[in-house]
Amino acid sequence: MEGGPSRPGAFIPQCNANGVYKRIQSNFLVAEVGGVLVGSSDIRHHLTEKLTRWGGHIGYIVDPRHRRRGYGTEILRQTLCLTVALGIRPALLTCRADNAGSSRVIHACGGVVSAQTHDGICSYWI
Ligand SMILES: CC(C)(COP(=O)(O)OP(=O)(O)OC[C@H]1O[C@@H](n2cnc3c(N)ncnc32)[C@H](O)[C@@H]1OP(=O)(O)O)[C@@H](O)C(=O)NCCC(=O)NCCS
Repeated sequence: MEGGPSRPGAFIPQCNANGVYKRIQSNFLVAEVGGVLVGSSDIRHHLTEKLTRWGGHIGYIVDPRHRRRGYGTEILRQTLCLTVALGIRPALLTCRADNAGSSRVIHACGGVVSAQTHDGICSYWI
């Protein structure tokens, strides 16, 4: 994966409940296999109220053309290594209960559901 703690993180805007924007430091990582971009992830260094409810410390995505080949699991595994290196531990991940692929990826990386909201959002601390 490209990017990581050795590079300065970018800042992403996050809006709180009062409509005030706060800038959250983040790292954007890309996953490349044989010169092909297959997916990406990002690490948010701090949690806002909104990220605590949905989003957490880590987001990830695999290009639909490259799904179900283990890349999602490997992207999260490597991203978690970087969060540890950044001192973010434990890391919060959120996932909709009906997102079977993402739930399996999180479980494969050691995630256990710690809470589920009435609207089906699961929280995991890894
Ligand atoms: C979730 C996502 C990252 C999974 O990526 P992936 O590369 O297909 O994941 P993997 O190949 O590592 O699959 C991990 C497991 O999930 C299973 N899986 C993947 N997609 C699945 C699906 N749509 N339905 C059921 N199982 C699925 C795989 O078969 C594999 O199972 P196994 O552990 O028994 O072998 C990808 O589907 C994606 O980018 N989705 C949209 C973005 C998203 O949901 N991000 C996460 C936000 S919480």
